[in-house]
Amino acid sequence: MAELREVQITEEKPLLPGQTPEVAKTHSVETPYGSVTFTVYGTPKPKRPAILTYHDVGLNCKSCFQPLFQFGDMQEIIQNFVRVHVDAPGMEEGAPVFPLGYQYPSLDQLADMIPCILQYLNFSTIIGIGVGAGAYVLSRYALTHPDTVEGLVLINIDPNAKGWMDWAAHKLTGLTSSIPEMILGHLFSQEELSGNSELIQKYRNIITHAPNLDNIELYWNSYNNRRDLNFGRGSDITLKCPVMLVVGDQAPHEDAVVECNSKLDPTQTSFLKMADSGGQPQLTQPGKLTEAFKYFLQGMGYMASSCMTRLSRSRTASLTSAASIDGNRSRSRTLSQSSESGTLASGPPGHTMEVSC
Ligand code: BEZ
Repeated sequence: MAELREVQITEEKPLLPGQTPEVAKTHSVETPYGSVTFTVYGTPKPKRPAILTYHDVGLNCKSCFQPLFQFGDMQEIIQNFVRVHVDAPGMEEGAPVFPLGYQYPSLDQLADMIPCILQYLNFSTIIGIGVGAGAYVLSRYALTHPDTVEGLVLINIDPNAKGWMDWAAHKLTGLTSSIPEMILGHLFSQEELSGNSELIQKYRNIITHAPNLDNIELYWNSYNNRRDLNFGRGSDITLKCPVMLVVGDQAPHEDAVVECNSKLDPTQTSFLKMADSGGQPQLTQPGKLTEAFKYFLQGMGYMASSCMTRLSRSRTASLTSAASIDGNRSRSRTLSQSSESGTLASGPPGHTMEVSC
């Protein structure tokens, strides 16, 4: 009898024929910390926040978010929102290399640039989606401007400053690894890197041959010098909006995200641990992330089930029947996705939600 083998499948669901990505418009604004570039897709929708994304180190808004925002099922969501994709300074395509000695902004200063973007666009509130360093930047922004953030999707967030042990490990790795390899080790799991899939080859190539590698190193240094966000349950320093924490089940930042979950308000926070997604779920599992994002928006009252496909509606019904997602939750929700049968089933604290994927 033929043997069943597990195969790793990267989800691919491009736009349908006739579906064309909306026209993008790229802008730059001057801020007290230098200029920042961002790309806007779609038009502002009355009474709706903008979706604002912030990418991780080694990537830019396109290489970090394009597979997610161009995913077929994502279209029915994003057509309801204007999107602002921020490039950290010097990371935009064609960015000139900063002169030697250039003082790159700290992550806190990158967060302080966001009001200039929103003011320029005349947008009052956002739903943020950030990955790694970008998740930190959006969290810092949400701490200082809580009234303007309606929700946050934080992928691979590490809210802690590096401790001296981390620094020692970082220095040691630096002796034997190049900057691109260190950044790849931040983005992907060791298993993914040694598997050297097409995706890894593609991103290794992008980062190793980036004409702005010196700028990337500056963003990397700012990330490694980040301050502690100091989240604490019951403390004033916390995220006040609904938050969806996301991490791959073998991602390098799994422990940091688990710890972050334990420090945030459980009534406002969902935790999604994704199976088979490696370090970058938005690249490898855009379908599952799209579905989770849809539930997240629904919980915020933005995606009425009438806007959703029949399949999505039935999935949502199974989620809402197992747990309320109307914002009046009494405890945190953990979603973990098992690979077998593509089911989402809960882990501790014993609150079960099942979603077919
Ligand atoms: C968007 O529709 O927001 C989008 C499309 C392509 C790449 C990145 C974002």
